[in-house]
Amino acid sequence: MDSAAWQARDLAVLWHPCTQMREHLEGTPLIAVRRGEGVWLEDYDGRRYLDAISSWWTNLFGHAEPRIAAAIAEQARQLEQVILAGCTHAPAVQLAERLLERAPAGLSKVFYADNGSAAVEVALKMSYHAHVHAGQPERSLFLALSNSYHGETLGALAVTDIPLYRRTYAPLMMQPRFVPSPDAFLREAGETWEDCARRAARGLAAALEQVGERVAALIVEPLVQCAGGMRMHHPAYLAEARRLCDAFGVHLIADEIAVGFGRTGTFLACEQAGIRPDFLCLSKGITGGFLPLAAVLTSETIYQRFLDEARERAFLHSHSYTGNPLACAAALASLAIFDADRVLERNRERAALLGEAAAPLADLPGVAEVRQCGMIVAIELARPDRGPHPPEQRRGRTAARYAVEHGVLLRPLGDVLYWMPPYCIRAEEIARLGEVTRLAILHAAEVAGA
Ligand SMILES: Cc1ncc(COP(=O)(O)O)c(C=O)c1O
Repeated sequence: MDSAAWQARDLAVLWHPCTQMREHLEGTPLIAVRRGEGVWLEDYDGRRYLDAISSWWTNLFGHAEPRIAAAIAEQARQLEQVILAGCTHAPAVQLAERLLERAPAGLSKVFYADNGSAAVEVALKMSYHAHVHAGQPERSLFLALSNSYHGETLGALAVTDIPLYRRTYAPLMMQPRFVPSPDAFLREAGETWEDCARRAARGLAAALEQVGERVAALIVEPLVQCAGGMRMHHPAYLAEARRLCDAFGVHLIADEIAVGFGRTGTFLACEQAGIRPDFLCLSKGITGGFLPLAAVLTSETIYQRFLDEARERAFLHSHSYTGNPLACAAALASLAIFDADRVLERNRERAALLGEAAAPLADLPGVAEVRQCGMIVAIELARPDRGPHPPEQRRGRTAARYAVEHGVLLRPLGDVLYWMPPYCIRAEEIARLGEVTRLAILHAAEVAGA
């Protein structure tokens, strides 16, 4: 069967995530993917697409990475799944040990979930519950950053500040307080990234002065607000946030679901600020992009608060596939690759190549900024004064369609094009990515009549 046949069968039965289905019904073709290898996806007609977005930021070392595939196959022959309440198994234990070795000192316990939003739910509930145990049930308010994204289940969506996802469901959700984002794109004339971060931290301090006694936790996406348009900030914000949270008895939740596992250049983004969060949420890249899995790492102090004879003092939260052995085996294989292939070291060279390929894009018409944090590059399509292009021009979408037609899978966030490729990307593939993106931006400007 060719791609067209799969597309037709798909549209008869499937409802896709985060998608206005009408666009596909009216002609935008789905990419029907038959196989993947390295940075490439191949459709049923043999056309290839460079996966510049790591399949929603999950893939680390390329598609169908043989070592991870083999680890899953071997584990599947031993034990595919077992309830993690009352039982344990080697992959879950070993993975917890390996994650804690790489996490900031002072995190000592791992709670598994099975997707990013679920990890955020766990962290929010655990934070509140820990305050209840400490005799402070009034700490039921969460602080989140403006332009944040933490997932789409109701708790995670409540601390998300992207109207496109949040607005409709707002009446269903708890109300957090949003504090200024340290987003460096919003820096004022003459401000450095660090100045901008410190200004946002003053906004956080002001909020804490007002409501600090009622706050359970501040949740942040360290260094890059990914779904919010790959907006980046200086690590000074995280250091300040840690200091302020400590001063006001507030937990700090680091949502590294998108930025963990080397995306920002360090294994964890928090490392760049030298901080230890009270809760560290991990998912996406944790299995190298093979299987759904999430983990919330926390401290001994938090863990100890839940120990009691009374069952209801426990953290009674569960998902059926929590700590799935196949997913844990994939994650262990993925962590082993970090060491075997010296991934972080080699990523420094790749990040430099990505930066070189992206730099000339800043001079193209309709581009306001090119920014980079480790293995993440963002190209902001906006006016020279940083104001948005007229939305009806749909530059991001036009550019992405052009790129897909020319064999590069981009999926812009509004008018922000970005690259977050698998780490196995080669120099010639980076060059191709740069060239197709250049042509795509020019095409979008031309279509807009600029
Ligand atoms: C920072 C962040 N947190 C949470 C999530 C939610 O993860 P999931 O899509 O696995 O529910 C995402 C997903 O993009 C994310 O980027």
